[in-house]
Amino acid sequence: MLTVVGMGPSGLHLMTPAARDAVDRAEALVGGKRHLQQFPTFRGETFALGANVSALLDWIASRQDKHVVILASGDPLFYGIGTRMVAHFGIARVRIIPGISAVQYLCAQAGIDMNEMWLTSSHGRSVNFDELVRHNKVAMVTDGLCGPKDIAAQLVARGKGQRWMVIGENLAMENERIHWLPVSEVSADYEMNAVVILDER
Ligand SMILES: C[S@@+](CC[C@H](N)C(=O)[O-])C[C@H]1O[C@@H](n2cnc3c(N)ncnc32)[C@H](O)[C@@H]1O
Repeated sequence: MLTVVGMGPSGLHLMTPAARDAVDRAEALVGGKRHLQQFPTFRGETFALGANVSALLDWIASRQDKHVVILASGDPLFYGIGTRMVAHFGIARVRIIPGISAVQYLCAQAGIDMNEMWLTSSHGRSVNFDELVRHNKVAMVTDGLCGPKDIAAQLVARGKGQRWMVIGENLAMENERIHWLPVSEVSADYEMNAVVILDER
């Protein structure tokens, strides 16, 4: 059996009981270093996940008789590993346990409703900024190559510097910080973050 569990943004307290129960029953655990470290007493096999997804698919295929659990950051089907697993194995063979995405958590902390929100990601992909600026409320996960200041530069280039950017840095961690800034003033570097872009504050 293959289960992909959403870990939420950080910390075991933000995982659902169903996700924690699946990990308790796991015979093999897959995840990034940050996620595997959260289960120091796990005694089964582990697979450290990085860019090696093809190797992971082979590893899972050779363990079909085992209960393999993949730890996914946030929600597995929001720009996460769950999408690749469903595409490869089919939903009949993969159980997805949802989690709180970084975007959901940021919205909760900042008091921003998610109604009519356009969701996207710059994490390892290019963003269609012409499409993005057509939406009044946008949320995205990011990466080091295209983070808040790069996104802001794209918006300023399209005459949208007066919009607001809410940057959620290290969400649910000890060093969490949430910044509200006019897009034209976003010029710093931020650690791991998700952002919301609003027409007005
Ligand atoms: C591959 S995407 C995964 C998104 C994830 N599936 C979700 O639902 O949040 C990874 C990106 O999610 C965002 N992210 C995940 N955890 C975060 C956290 N604790 N604080 C801020 N951003 C986070 C960052 O933009 C990070 O680069």
